[in-house]
Amino acid sequence: MNKIRASITGIEAFLPEYILTNEELSRMVDTSDEWIMQRIGIKERRILKGKDLATSDMGAEAALRLFAKTGTKADDIDLIIAATVTPDMFFPSTACVIADKAGIKNAWGFDLSAACSGFIYALQTASQFIESGRYKKVLLVAGDKMSSIVNYNDRTTCPLFGDASVAVLLEPDTEDFGVMDHIFQIDGSGRHHLYVKGGGSLRPSSHETIDSGDHYMYQEGQTVFKVAVSKMADVAVEMMERHNITAEDLAWLVPHQANMRIIEATARRMGLSKEKVMINIERYGNTTAATIPLCLWDWEKELKKGDKLILAAFGGGFTWGSIYLKWAYNS
Ligand code: UT7
Repeated sequence: MNKIRASITGIEAFLPEYILTNEELSRMVDTSDEWIMQRIGIKERRILKGKDLATSDMGAEAALRLFAKTGTKADDIDLIIAATVTPDMFFPSTACVIADKAGIKNAWGFDLSAACSGFIYALQTASQFIESGRYKKVLLVAGDKMSSIVNYNDRTTCPLFGDASVAVLLEPDTEDFGVMDHIFQIDGSGRHHLYVKGGGSLRPSSHETIDSGDHYMYQEGQTVFKVAVSKMADVAVEMMERHNITAEDLAWLVPHQANMRIIEATARRMGLSKEKVMINIERYGNTTAATIPLCLWDWEKELKKGDKLILAAFGGGFTWGSIYLKWAYNS
């Protein structure tokens, strides 16, 4: 019998209705549409507005839409993994909350924290449960409410991020489609360049942490940029070489959407033309764990069974990696 692999068999997304444009941002901080488009490539991003709405609400809605689209019963889900760095709260896990809100009663689950690499790390983790032969339907929900940790007085970070969640169904495949390989790496010495300083066990919430703005995300943009450009391209090129995939063979590069310049540099190193790169940063910004599946969802109708895809991400931690995936269905 062929090896059991995990293939993506369905994908659905939730995008909040509210659109935060560059024009609105330039009324909030000293910035402009021209600067944001030139240096980042983002036109607008979605923001989850409304009292008591959290990452789990976006995730549960994405999951319910996925169940409706694929005819999946919530009770048939064996495992739920939520990839996020903006959990509803420290505990219970956002996976528990999403399971409750989406009516998932026969599963166990957990959160996975890997910032912008969250989706690819969770995809690999989920796929190992499927490959074991014991798990038949794994639900992966990748999403972040970045607006809950963005400082809208800081022009160096507030244009970058948006909110979204995407739900992905993984099932066993014995026809050689699905997750083929991964190359992952972390480097914790990069942790001081992109993080939330306060609120954890190191600096528990206090008047002082609030006054210092320690609950907002902090980023040294240029430092992160330099490492991201080289590492994301390194792992994507290494994956091509490892599997003898040429630029012609590859159907799509699916890159994390942090900055248009990082995406273009990665594509250049891989020898790819822009037509083979999924790019939607202009409309959604950096939605952290959700960027890569949001691209897959946006391009779902164009994807064909057997298409070779390389997913590549870089994020806080530092965390980075690439996945080689063979698409498993025509929609
Ligand atoms: O997804 C997780 C990983 N994160 C990333 O991959 C993000 C990586 N970093 C980046 O994408 C870029 O570094 C940024 C988009 C964050 C910043 O772009 P940059 O080209 O590195 O700009 P910079 O930080 O070098 O700043 C250049 C100038 C500065 O002014 P001076 O000192 O040259 O006078 C900034 O103060 O641009 C200024 N600036 C802005 N100007 C207008 C910074 N932010 C803004 C802004 N509007 N929003």
